Amino acid sequence: MLIARSLPELRAATADLRAGSDRLALVPTMGALHAGHGALVTAAVASGAATVASIFVNPLQFSPTEDLARYPRDEAGDLAKLKDWGCQLAWLPDVATMYPPDGATVIEPAGPAEGWEGAARPGHFRGVATVVAKLFGQVRTDAAYFGEKDWQQLQVVRRMVTDLHLPVTIVGVETVREADGLALSSRNRYLSPAERARAPELARALNRAAAGLAGGARAAELLAEGQAVLSASGFEVDYFALVDGPSLRMIDHAMPGARLITAARLGPVRLLDNIAVRGPGAI
Ligand code: PAJ
Repeated sequence: MLIARSLPELRAATADLRAGSDRLALVPTMGALHAGHGALVTAAVASGAATVASIFVNPLQFSPTEDLARYPRDEAGDLAKLKDWGCQLAWLPDVATMYPPDGATVIEPAGPAEGWEGAARPGHFRGVATVVAKLFGQVRTDAAYFGEKDWQQLQVVRRMVTDLHLPVTIVGVETVREADGLALSSRNRYLSPAERARAPELARALNRAAAGLAGGARAAELLAEGQAVLSASGFEVDYFALVDGPSLRMIDHAMPGARLITAARLGPVRLLDNIAVRGPGAI
């Protein structure tokens, strides 16, 4: 696996990859890699593209109250995993490369970036969209892989690519879960054993609501019940909502493309999850 830490090194490494492959695929990450990231890398590798993974803990997507310095970092472990998964190039830019002091341009996404995580974390999606656009420009990738785990982020990236006519195919990859249903996340390590035991209730609540919608029950009641069950299990629910998948706009009944999304705090950790919804009577 090649490793690039500067733009000239990246240019040389991507030229090497292009000599052996007709397509590049990029998997943007912030490191602390787990099997969720692994699913993105192996999907990219399986597509036949030469696969590049970036590791960059992006200061622009953290708010001043969020602890950027505490974000888990394990470069040696991450590089070993990437190599195992078949990644061909690791791109490890530093902050000065990504944000030169004279930089004056950011991307301000609206639409799907509004509400939910956008409301809970002001400026977060500005940071995500800006760094993802920079990564696309740096790597000149043909495709990029993102997890459905961060559903709103995936929609923000899709909207940006469409709106800015960026020549990148966005591929969404299904959420990887623990055996008990908890979505893999680098934040799960901060759960106490008791919190970890309760955490799968988030996915269970989503599944119950989705089954209820498919059975024709009223959305408002199912959402209220989901919130109540989670609160009773010790979660501080930020939202538990039914939305139109691509636009993230709230809807009041199941329809094609609908998505249940939730964010809830359990102890020190804010957990995110979401699932697809099938309408009543759908097969
Ligand atoms: P990070 O949290 O490291 O996640 C990198 C990618 O892995 C994202 O596309 C995320 O959705 C995906 N991912 C995380 N957990 C997953 C799981 N359990 N199953 C499937 N995919 C999962 O998301 C970011 O970094 C950053 O915002 C980034 C896009 C890199 C921009 O800085």
